[in-house]
Amino acid sequence: MNFSTLAASRYTTKSYDSDKKIPMETILQLKEILRLSPSSINSQPWQFTFVSNETLKGKLAGVSYFNEQKITEASHLVVFSAIDNIPLFERRIQETLPEGSVGYYNQFVKPGSASEIKSWLQHQVYLSLGFFLAACASLEIDSTPMEGIQNEKYKEILNLEHYQPLFAVAIGYRNPEDNNQPSIKAKSRLSYEQTFEII
Ligand SMILES: Cc1cc2nc3c(=O)[nH]c(=O)nc-3n(C[C@H](O)[C@H](O)[C@H](O)COP(=O)(O)O)c2cc1C
Repeated sequence: MNFSTLAASRYTTKSYDSDKKIPMETILQLKEILRLSPSSINSQPWQFTFVSNETLKGKLAGVSYFNEQKITEASHLVVFSAIDNIPLFERRIQETLPEGSVGYYNQFVKPGSASEIKSWLQHQVYLSLGFFLAACASLEIDSTPMEGIQNEKYKEILNLEHYQPLFAVAIGYRNPEDNNQPSIKAKSRLSYEQTFEII
C-alpha cells in the first residue's frame, strides 16, 4: 500500500477485537521503528512503555477517562513519556551526541526556562507519535492515540523515574463493527483552501 492509501485508510479505532493479539514479531518491528524516530539534534528524549499484561493494562485503563474500554479491549498499550530530569538529559547528550549538536542545545534551548526546555523535549516525543501511527498503518495494526489519560497516575502505576507520560496509544485489531472506520464514517478534515496557502 502506498502512503496516500495508508493515510486515507488509517483511523482512530474506537472498538477492538479483544480476542486478537499482535504477534511478538510485529511488536519487535514497532519497537525498532520507534527507536529510529527522528528528533531535533537526535536528542531522543523519550521512553516508550509497551504494556500487554492484562492486569497492568486494566489498571491504566481505569485511569484513562472515556478511553477505558478501548484500552481494555486492545492488544497492547504503548505509553509515550518525555524525560523530565533536565540535568540527566544534559549529561546524556554530552556523552552521546556530537559537539555540534550539544552546541546547538546550549545556544538555542538551554537558555530557556525549565518549562520551555521541557516543552522542547516533549515536542520530540510528539513527533515520534506521527511516525508510530504511520508505522502501525503500514503493518496493518489499528491504533488509538490518546491524550485523555491521567498522566500523573500513569507515572505512579508504571513507576517511572525521570520520565513524564504524555499520551498513550492503544494498538490491536479493530472490531469489524467499529463505526469510526472510514468505510462507515467518512474522514473529516478542513478543506484544501483552509489548509494550504498558495504564494
Ligand atoms: C495527540 C492526540 C491525542 C488524541 N487523544 C484522543 C483520545 O484521548 N481519545 C480518542 O478517542 N481519540 C483521541 N485522538 C484521536 C483524534 O481525535 C483523531 O486523530 C482525529 O479526530 C482525526 O481522526 P482520525 O485519526 O480517525 O483520522 C487523539 C489524537 C491525537 C493526535
